[in-house]
Amino acid sequence: MNTAVYHAMLVQEAADGSIRRHITLRSVSDLPDHDVLIRVHFSSLNYKDALSATGHKGVTRQYPHTPGIDAAGVVAESRAPQFRPGDEVIVTGYDLGMNTPGGFGEYIRVPADWIVPLPTRLTLRESMIFGTAGFTAALSLLKLEAHGLSPADGDILVTGASGGVGCMAVALLAHNGYPVVAVTGKPEAEPFLRELGAHRILPRPALDDTSGRPLLKQEWSAVVETVGGNFLSTALQSTRRHGAVAACGNVLSAELHTTVFPFILRGITLYGIDSATSGMTLRREAWSRLAGPWKLNHLDRMARAVGLEKLDEEIERILAGRQQGRVLVQLSS
Ligand SMILES: NC(=O)c1ccc[n+]([C@@H]2O[C@H](COP(=O)([O-])OP(=O)(O)OC[C@H]3O[C@@H](n4cnc5c(N)ncnc54)[C@H](OP(=O)(O)O)[C@@H]3O)[C@@H](O)[C@H]2O)c1
Repeated sequence: MNTAVYHAMLVQEAADGSIRRHITLRSVSDLPDHDVLIRVHFSSLNYKDALSATGHKGVTRQYPHTPGIDAAGVVAESRAPQFRPGDEVIVTGYDLGMNTPGGFGEYIRVPADWIVPLPTRLTLRESMIFGTAGFTAALSLLKLEAHGLSPADGDILVTGASGGVGCMAVALLAHNGYPVVAVTGKPEAEPFLRELGAHRILPRPALDDTSGRPLLKQEWSAVVETVGGNFLSTALQSTRRHGAVAACGNVLSAELHTTVFPFILRGITLYGIDSATSGMTLRREAWSRLAGPWKLNHLDRMARAVGLEKLDEEIERILAGRQQGRVLVQLSS
């Protein structure tokens, strides 16, 4: 039995329901009995991690728990024939960091069928700058391309643009030649978004229509919508005929109030994006694009690296909607 110990963030729930986080030593022997043990080198911070780290029962049912829906590292032990010690791998989504100890610890143990081999041309560090955010943006673009979208169709909108999924979507779309309009609540993020390739920046009220009209002026060929609530309704009302909206987030609200008119009078398609449960074929396709033709030149400038000890303040920042870009979590020195 492997009795090595490792550092991890542990989230604990007290009897009064209050939540406490600290960095502590854990034992590899306490990890779940799955086939592949991975020494984690990098993770990343996503909105869902912040929910898990603050006791959100919709994400994590039981505490104590180590969050982290993303992990990239090296196989340490494997009972699965397709992985050998020394292999570099990526794990995102499934149950990682939800109810399975996640990437905010130096080791994870997961089923082999959650694991994507690290594509050649991508480093472990780069894979986690993308992380679930980049993977989700890539799934959105794959979906919109399958819908028939092309750069010649005109302006494409990204909401929550300075956040993780948002900035990745802005950068990936611009990288592929799409004219990107970015919606942000952070005026100070404008230079960052322009550097990623946004050609127009709008303030949040532009996507928060309160007129009560079921249809608005047709403006967007498509939308990558990361905010939810009235942003998603407004996106549906203002997308051009036969366009599409890829919905991936709910930072504002999980509710959707709309009418059937965008669908039956303009032929709008609403796509749901679920990165956590995407199948392996689609996963490999998305990661191979991110490592190849969609690899971003400015990846390094899209993330700040922090160790476990600095993660607490980053969790508070993402919950307050104040993150700009990505937070890379460094677990190896
Ligand atoms: N479906 C999937 O597979 C999937 C995968 C990853 C994430 N998600 C979801 O996508 C969303 C974004 O995740 P993330 O990790 O990118 O989070 P994030 O880094 O915090 O980005 C969210 C961004 O939304 C904007 N925002 C925050 N609060 C807002 C409010 N009250 N009203 C309007 N805009 C607001 C902010 O951008 P601006 O300041 O620029 O406006 C913020 O940076 C979350 O709901 C997350 O759960 C879903």
